[in-house]
Amino acid sequence: MAKRDIISVLDMKDDMPELVDLAIKLKKERGHHGDPLKGKTLAMIFEKPSTRTRISFDVAISELGGHALYIEATKMQMGHGETVEDTAHVMSRFVHGIMYRAFNYKVMDRLGENASVPVISGLDDLEHPCQALADMVTIKEKKGGFRGKKLVYLGDGNNVCNSLLYACAIMGMDMVACCPATRMPNAEIMLNASRIADANGSKIIASHEPKEACKDADVLYTDTWISMGDDTPLEEAVRIFHDYQINSELLSIAKPDCIVMHCLPAHRGQEITAEVMDGPQSVVFDEAENRLHAQKAVLYTVMKD
Ligand code: CP
Ligand code: NVA
Repeated sequence: MAKRDIISVLDMKDDMPELVDLAIKLKKERGHHGDPLKGKTLAMIFEKPSTRTRISFDVAISELGGHALYIEATKMQMGHGETVEDTAHVMSRFVHGIMYRAFNYKVMDRLGENASVPVISGLDDLEHPCQALADMVTIKEKKGGFRGKKLVYLGDGNNVCNSLLYACAIMGMDMVACCPATRMPNAEIMLNASRIADANGSKIIASHEPKEACKDADVLYTDTWISMGDDTPLEEAVRIFHDYQINSELLSIAKPDCIVMHCLPAHRGQEITAEVMDGPQSVVFDEAENRLHAQKAVLYTVMKD
């Protein structure tokens, strides 16, 4: 059987609803999985810091009976002149799967093309697919489904926003990418996601008007204004994004039962106020927990025999 990479949310286009349901099932069955990945090793290469991705992948593979290796990219020969192609060939002889957090999606793609074992993205500059899968799990749990529901993403049109565009389109949920004109999501992803949404009976909309966009929202979502690897000074980010902060005023425009999501790490007082982040409509810690369950679904699907 051909190996399967999860580098973009598009790699889950044909079975994202099933992966969401599997994650929810595995969440209920935690502690009783048997050892479906017994003897399997997942190498985890990090070019950037991580709390959630690192810990949740490590715990996920352990609870499925396998084992994780944490590797700082700067300590590998790949960071000192060895090609990503040679690295992919060599690692494929040792491990059964590779999770990679990368600066550059082109290097992620080259790792995937040259590894004979599955490559799973733990984020790059273009997407964060496992985050989006976990977010769909959270929305299903909290909202019961996707059709007729509206997610408004506020802030930087970054990797998290790009992956949410694909995920909402695939799941048939409406999404508004409400971002400053200079910080819109990737144009090709917007277009592709709109086409997928059209086919699924939902809508992908671009907006620069937070107050307008938040009307009737079921989910408000934000992420850091300055992603890892982005050298925008904080004062400039505050100037660009301050109207897009999730605060009680914007939340009051959304539906009364609107939930608030953030992939974390959060910066209270910047993209979200402490009042909202720590308030009753925030589901950010359930969302973080769901990284574990969603990634179990991914690991089980791509690494089982
Ligand atoms: N949301 C997320 O990926 O968090 P980490 O950077 O801590 O992995
Ligand atoms: N957009 C953020 C997500 C962190 C999980 C970043 O790339 O830094």
